[in-house]
Amino acid sequence: MSNKNLGSKKKRAMFWLAIPGVASLVIFLSSCNHNRPLNTLTSDASPDAKKINDLFFVVLGIATVVGVLVLGAIVYMIWRFRNREKNNPYDPDNPNLALLEAEALPEQTHGNLRLEIAWTIIPALILLVVAIFTLFAIFEQHRSTAADDQLKVDVVGQQWWWEFQYHIDGDRSTPPDFVSANELVIPTGQQIPLEVSARDVIHAFWIPRLNGKIDAVPGREHAWRIEASKPGTYKGQCTEFCGLSHGFMKMEVRALETSDWASWARNQMRSAAVLSADDPNYEGQELFITNCARCHSISGVTDTNADNEVDTWEIYDGDGKIHDQLISGSAPNLTHFASRTTYAGSIFDTYLSEVRIEDYLRLSLTEASATSVGEGVGDEVAPNIFEPTPDIRGLRRWIFNAPAEKPAAASESRGMPAFPNLTTDQVNSVIDYLLTLK
Ligand code: CUA
Repeated sequence: MSNKNLGSKKKRAMFWLAIPGVASLVIFLSSCNHNRPLNTLTSDASPDAKKINDLFFVVLGIATVVGVLVLGAIVYMIWRFRNREKNNPYDPDNPNLALLEAEALPEQTHGNLRLEIAWTIIPALILLVVAIFTLFAIFEQHRSTAADDQLKVDVVGQQWWWEFQYHIDGDRSTPPDFVSANELVIPTGQQIPLEVSARDVIHAFWIPRLNGKIDAVPGREHAWRIEASKPGTYKGQCTEFCGLSHGFMKMEVRALETSDWASWARNQMRSAAVLSADDPNYEGQELFITNCARCHSISGVTDTNADNEVDTWEIYDGDGKIHDQLISGSAPNLTHFASRTTYAGSIFDTYLSEVRIEDYLRLSLTEASATSVGEGVGDEVAPNIFEPTPDIRGLRRWIFNAPAEKPAAASESRGMPAFPNLTTDQVNSVIDYLLTLK
């Protein structure tokens, strides 16, 4: 084989080897993009994320040094003791064999006790130090340093959405003050203790920019905490495989300034008004009660008792479980549906225009609702001039045939069923009604 031939063959081999190399480099470097919503490498959003990152980068530093040393030694030895065609002493046909045999073999050794003890003890010590710091960080994040009477939230995972039960005074022995879904809204700069659990299968709650992930296990309550240093939207994703639509089980944390959060929370505590027959959205309300209220609650509307007295949030008992006598509650509570910017497990946007965090509060406090709420609410809020356009077509697709939008086993009460029997006008009425629920 001529040298020329060999050279071009080598080049071709290098070229084909370079492709997977470059591809993996591109994939690796894309993880450094700081604008990704689920990016774990930014640590300015939360003190807990900072702790995780600080630990991560120290461990990464140690691992890099060890990796470079080990890989460097391997590469050096591969190169240094490579099989040179001309110098191969194991090739009986090597014409230089006699010459090679004339050279004495280097000193042959077997084992080195000191070296072996060293390379056993040093890694063990490194791992021990890493484990100690990691365990301290993990235990710390299960502990809350917030005052007892401050906001606590119970997080409940269900196929395939998240429920948030808010205890404003921190008292978990009483029913939550209000319940919401998909978007966990918290005041900025305050540690919020969470109790994370699940109703059906195991899920995992994870807002990468704010804290690590925590499993949501049926029948267990895992203490966790979340804190955002500045207002903003922080996205998350269920991170424990939980069936068909696991990939579509998203959630968000929205952090508001403390005073904004108080206004938002007061609004969330309101029940919805029962519409009278002369209201333009009366038909939508009645269609909702007939078709949707088997699973979805609207506080003040679907939970009135026989005397037509509103039972509001009392459907939730002290343990955050739903009272047996009420069927509704196994799907997201829609009392303030239009004040959220996402639906269907946060996979769809309710509004076509982007709802920025500074507009979020105004989304729930329209002039209409602010006046009907009475004292306290809306006082410090400017009149609402923020009217984003709802995605009516998206909402219509969802209500008509949700399983086509997000895989569901609706026959087993997992996920939202289709409503093929409703007419377009009827679906539009339901949507119009839902959009009044701010
Ligand atoms: Cu819930 Cu995966």
